[in-house]
Amino acid sequence: MKHKLIVANWKMNTVFSEAVVLATGIGNGLRNFKELEVAVCPPAIWLMPIAELIKKNLFSLKLGAQNIFYKDEGAYTGEISPAMIKKICDYVIIGHSERRVYFKETDEDVNFKIKAALKHDLTPILCVGEFKKLGVMNKKKIAKNKNEIMFSENINRQLSVGLDGISRNDIARVVIAYEPVWAIGMGKSASGVYAGEMVRNIRNRLAIIYDRDIARDIKILYGGSVSASNVLVYLKRPEINGLLVGGVSLNIKEFTEICRQASII
Ligand code: PGA
Repeated sequence: MKHKLIVANWKMNTVFSEAVVLATGIGNGLRNFKELEVAVCPPAIWLMPIAELIKKNLFSLKLGAQNIFYKDEGAYTGEISPAMIKKICDYVIIGHSERRVYFKETDEDVNFKIKAALKHDLTPILCVGEFKKLGVMNKKKIAKNKNEIMFSENINRQLSVGLDGISRNDIARVVIAYEPVWAIGMGKSASGVYAGEMVRNIRNRLAIIYDRDIARDIKILYGGSVSASNVLVYLKRPEINGLLVGGVSLNIKEFTEICRQASII
């Protein structure tokens, strides 16, 4: 069985002292948990010091960036390239809904970024999700409601354009995070059945783009208002291989509890 992957997205939070306390607390908390992979994604400015802290303390923590630009270098003020972080990071979150909404990232940008990450041996975590909750998960009823079809088409587009030109070999190195936008940071998490069904839809889509084996084997995480009290709802779903945790990943105790539950399921 695949180990669960738990990713902490700190977003634009923490000053340096807080980042150190947080990474240290999480790293120490993980010492007793086996068969689990945990990655923290701090703001870019803390990547290097947190990488050093992980190394010094022998924490079994992976490190991820929250974003990259797709060029290796050049006149792109304010951006960070995959070449700059490849030696210290394992993962990079790509196409998070906050980047798509606030920074107008398109599916084409996302596609370039995934290719850039792969080129530099970073594992991209491709975020996809619908903006509004689908009212009905029954296919016949969905077909009657055009708006609902639009929303699932949004995910289809995010997958087909986002993964355009990614080979069968390379797709095996991609992680997907299903994050319903309406559930992010709102305290309105999706039910386990809903999340499981959507992840199954994503796998079906990947089976069309690639094949059934790839669709079955690819890691798909759930994200959106995950907390210590609802984590089992997702982890118990066989379709879901882990979690992308935002707000709660800033709380050492609660995030560690999430990891503990993920390690024993
Ligand atoms: P949340 O964020 O856990 O605060 O909802 C998840 C995310 O945005 O990745």
